[in-house]
Amino acid sequence: MLGAHLGDVIDAINDRREARRFTGADAGGFQYRRHGVIIAAMETTAPDFTAAQQRMLDRIEEAPTEAATFQLLQLAASYWKSGQTAEFAECFRRAYRRGRCRKISSLLTSRDDMEELARITQALIDHGCRYSDVISEHAIAEALLGRVDAVRSLVDYGRFFRQGRCIPPSGSSLEGFNRAVADEIKPKLAFYDEEDASAIRKSWRNDTALQAKTPALAALKALLAREVETYLANLPDDPDHPFIASRPREYDLDGWANASPADGYLLPHIHSRTWATGVYYVTQPEVSRDTHGQRGWLRVGSPPELDGKEPSETGWETRLIEPVAGSFILMPAYFTHATEPMGVEQERISIAFEVQPAEFRDQRPRRSKKRPSQD
Ligand SMILES: [Fe+2]
Repeated sequence: MLGAHLGDVIDAINDRREARRFTGADAGGFQYRRHGVIIAAMETTAPDFTAAQQRMLDRIEEAPTEAATFQLLQLAASYWKSGQTAEFAECFRRAYRRGRCRKISSLLTSRDDMEELARITQALIDHGCRYSDVISEHAIAEALLGRVDAVRSLVDYGRFFRQGRCIPPSGSSLEGFNRAVADEIKPKLAFYDEEDASAIRKSWRNDTALQAKTPALAALKALLAREVETYLANLPDDPDHPFIASRPREYDLDGWANASPADGYLLPHIHSRTWATGVYYVTQPEVSRDTHGQRGWLRVGSPPELDGKEPSETGWETRLIEPVAGSFILMPAYFTHATEPMGVEQERISIAFEVQPAEFRDQRPRRSKKRPSQD
């Protein structure tokens, strides 16, 4: 009986007309709602859970990506509500692997329940879902709860934020190398000026900079790859920390170039489905040399959810990074960062790069078009 009903439920979700037929109806003892179909079914069928569960997951994962992601999150929410945290985490993991999920806080009964958000994200971390979005939301919840020590442990600049300078390939001056990099970037710049899910605003971008086979960009990728290896090798010995515990055994290094005009900027963002992210500065605008004005600098710090709160209340510190040509930064992908418009037409070119766990390799769309959620 259970299987037949669950099959009906899944079919209903996959077919909007059928879903309407179920809306508000009592079908075989189950109360269905348009967006609560799976939840209702799961809560009333708990005794047979395991057999039905696998059947349901199989059916869900046959659905188109967006629908399946939504359904998996609904299923995850039902498991969380019924106290089955392992199943909750597994459903979340499957949804996250398909694509960036909506904010985890959307699973909450009350958006303001930060204790619940902290419990949910901690459960995900404990069950191996140590993804950048999860750690980010966990840190936000802890910050809003005033647990400064927990925030300082996650957003720990001393242990996880690296800043350095690349040594150009032998035979090149730094200036000559960066000029060659800029020359290879410029022919493929596309302008991003629409408000969408990405963080970039009114700026130029070369989406495939670190996939290029041209000499300077290929050399830069090799330099950055060495820095990533050094970063990995020098991580503190703290296997319980979610960032360290999620260090990928296998990963891809990818990146793109940003060229910001006077009014270009990046909204505050993190890098989803990425372990660590960094920036290499190719050209420094003159205006950014003023260390008081700090125009064109990168702000790494608290996310918008903490606006109006002091670091002493939340534990979330801020760093401002001067875009010195030839320098780079490397940090966890859950560190929020942003830029503001420089206000002057001066060349500011940087390369954003990511350490992408192999876990997401098959699901990651190539960046021939705009990326949906990255800068
Ligand atoms: Fe970024």
